[in-house]
Amino acid sequence: MALLSILRFPDSRLHTKAAPVAVVDDSIRALVRDMGETMYAADGVGLAATQVNVHKRVAVIDVSETRDQLRVFINAEIVARDGECESEEGCLSVPGVRDTVKRAERVTVRALDERGEPFELEADGLLAVCLQHELDHLEGKVFVQYLSRLKQGRIKTRLLKQAQEEKAKADA
Ligand code: NI
Repeated sequence: MALLSILRFPDSRLHTKAAPVAVVDDSIRALVRDMGETMYAADGVGLAATQVNVHKRVAVIDVSETRDQLRVFINAEIVARDGECESEEGCLSVPGVRDTVKRAERVTVRALDERGEPFELEADGLLAVCLQHELDHLEGKVFVQYLSRLKQGRIKTRLLKQAQEEKAKADA
């Protein structure tokens, strides 16, 4: 197992569209394990492969309080959406930023699990929001893209400055 490094907005690689997984094999299962480990270490509730610079349709989510209910979504597609809700979101690729995003309140997804078995899941609440957020990543979309251009500009400036400061610290 290994911790993977997480791309940070505004890294252009975050806007890559992920390709479907052809076969769920041991390399995909290793990716899922590493992504799970990386997500837990960063204290996140979800992580998409795009965020670790792997452009395959794989996402992991754990919205449980006990942090031991890892859900794996391979080639996930939203097949139904219903209602509307607004909630505050954050993202491991946009550290320190939280803002309100409007999403469907309930979604139904079809996906493969880590054994390659198909399943369907109806989700609401945090899980539904998280699924839409992670599946957006796989389409190359980061949640800040729902915000105003002005806000996006400020977030970009702030994160670039933060990255520069971290680099200066590492070089010192
Ligand atoms: Ni995210």
